[in-house]
Amino acid sequence: MTTASAIRTSTGSTREKNRLRPEDRAVHDWYRFVLSFPSHLVRDYLDAFGVDSTQRVLDPFCGTGTTLVECKKLGIPSVGIERNPMAGFASRTKLDWSVDPDALVSHAGEIAVRALDRLQGQGIDDLGIAPLFQANNPPIAALRTLPSDRLSLLLKNSISPLPLHKTLLLLDILEQRRDDAAYPHERLALAAALVSKIGNLHFGPEVGVGRIQEDARSSVRG
Ligand SMILES: C[S@@+](CC[C@H](N)C(=O)[O-])C[C@H]1O[C@@H](n2cnc3c(N)ncnc32)[C@H](O)[C@@H]1O
Repeated sequence: MTTASAIRTSTGSTREKNRLRPEDRAVHDWYRFVLSFPSHLVRDYLDAFGVDSTQRVLDPFCGTGTTLVECKKLGIPSVGIERNPMAGFASRTKLDWSVDPDALVSHAGEIAVRALDRLQGQGIDDLGIAPLFQANNPPIAALRTLPSDRLSLLLKNSISPLPLHKTLLLLDILEQRRDDAAYPHERLALAAALVSKIGNLHFGPEVGVGRIQEDARSSVRG
């Protein structure tokens, strides 16, 4: 039996084998998509092929960077190529470990507070504490949307009007309060939340529109 076929016949269902393991979530969960390789499979292959830090791995279709991240974890130099700008951005960001986690969380918290303030000023209750405060609020502002040429690129109903408004407001605040060290990770976190929580996308594994949710609230707890 060759090493590669030994990997293929290892125990467990395909679904189980494709699942991301808890210990792999810290980096890989920043952004994954349906085409991402399972990280433990990449490790198995690096091991099976005896790849070490004296070699360099080329992933010419690097997607969201699973192979490159696994190489980085093992101290193996690697290079990736990716034609999809979003996937390329995810790869680059996941490979940037220079960000200070405490500073990132603190800056993201400041962004959240500003966003909540702005929404409240627009009469939009994002914390689910209305109607106590709603009576004193001005009427809900006109919801922002994308220019029609960009809106037409989205799958119909893939995001509802209120979550889109909140997302555009967050993007604005991220830009206005930009912290260069945190900016890529904050935008990638927003992108991950957009496809998994804020929007209405469903992956099965083909991408489509699932349950329509009219709102997407902050998970900030008092
Ligand atoms: C299966 S995914 C890659 C998974 C990735 N190797 C990993 O470690 O998780 C394939 C990727 O190839 C990219 N791709 C397809 N054609 C390409 C091309 N001609 N040049 C560069 N990337 C390409 C796609 O955009 C997609 O992100």
